[in-house]
Amino acid sequence: MSSPAKIHTTAPGKIILLGEHSVVYGQPALAVPVTSVRVSVTVEPAERLTIEARDLAQTFTADEREAYVNHPLFQMVRSVAAFFDRPEPNRCFSVTSTIPVASGLGSGAAVSAALGRATAAALGHILTDDQLNHLVYDIERIHHGTPSGIDNTVIVYQKPVYFIRGQGAVPFEVGAPFHILIADTGRAAPTRESVGDVRRLMETQPDRYRPVVERIGQVVEAARRAIAIGHHAELGALMDENHALLSTLTVSSPELDHLVAAARRAGALGAKLSGGGRGGNMIALVSPDHLTTVTDALHEAGAVRVLPTVISNTPEVNP
Ligand code: PMV
Repeated sequence: MSSPAKIHTTAPGKIILLGEHSVVYGQPALAVPVTSVRVSVTVEPAERLTIEARDLAQTFTADEREAYVNHPLFQMVRSVAAFFDRPEPNRCFSVTSTIPVASGLGSGAAVSAALGRATAAALGHILTDDQLNHLVYDIERIHHGTPSGIDNTVIVYQKPVYFIRGQGAVPFEVGAPFHILIADTGRAAPTRESVGDVRRLMETQPDRYRPVVERIGQVVEAARRAIAIGHHAELGALMDENHALLSTLTVSSPELDHLVAAARRAGALGAKLSGGGRGGNMIALVSPDHLTTVTDALHEAGAVRVLPTVISNTPEVNP
């Protein structure tokens, strides 16, 4: 009997270029996959369901079901099995990840996406991207409060997206490729908390904060136009404005502000926090001739990691 083909699935990280937080309130946002960091899952035969995720400090078997029944890794496997009306497979899923956790790069959605594809394969099925997107969103919803759905969408479809909550995503036009540096503050910050804090501000002081959220929506629309015609100086200015508006929503932090200021001083065209904020990553728009200077400045300012990425109509694909 021939042995079954080895199962290996992956999913990329992501960054939000503009529009985080306001996207939760129906405003548009722009996000792109980041293929230089990713989650990989391999599947081996086993006597019982086992999930090993050492990079995420998680390893457990179905024997410990009571303890892990509410864990997102376990829930993802279970929900894919339920989707196909099958029991959870007796396999060992090994999850590795180079995406830092709780830092705005979409670690949670990427783990769910790669694990979902692996579970389907282990059951002899294939999930369409639309099916997987719904299943990943359901897990995001259990663990992140009120997610807009942007993370799962950009990670499952692996394409740059212009996203409006409830309306899905459409690709956006990139008139001329541009370089983004992604710098990590090294401080993990759960998105759930910053999203919850913004919700409280929106509920208790809507007159003050709704205009901020609406202005971010206008900034995103202007950025989409600037990207389409390759006006990078204008895009940089809009990123700066987006960062200031996010600070007003209280989701920046001294570390993020420090890296943003360092990038701008070193010649970045614009810089802002990316994702949930309060820590995690910031992004800087940098012309090719400034890449080294700004990278060095970010390291000197305390970034624990600086990743370059190029945004274009044909996103880089990792081998
Ligand atoms: O997962 P993060 O940290 O990239 O943040 C997601 C973006 C938010 O707009 C803050 C929340 C959401 O659900 O869209």
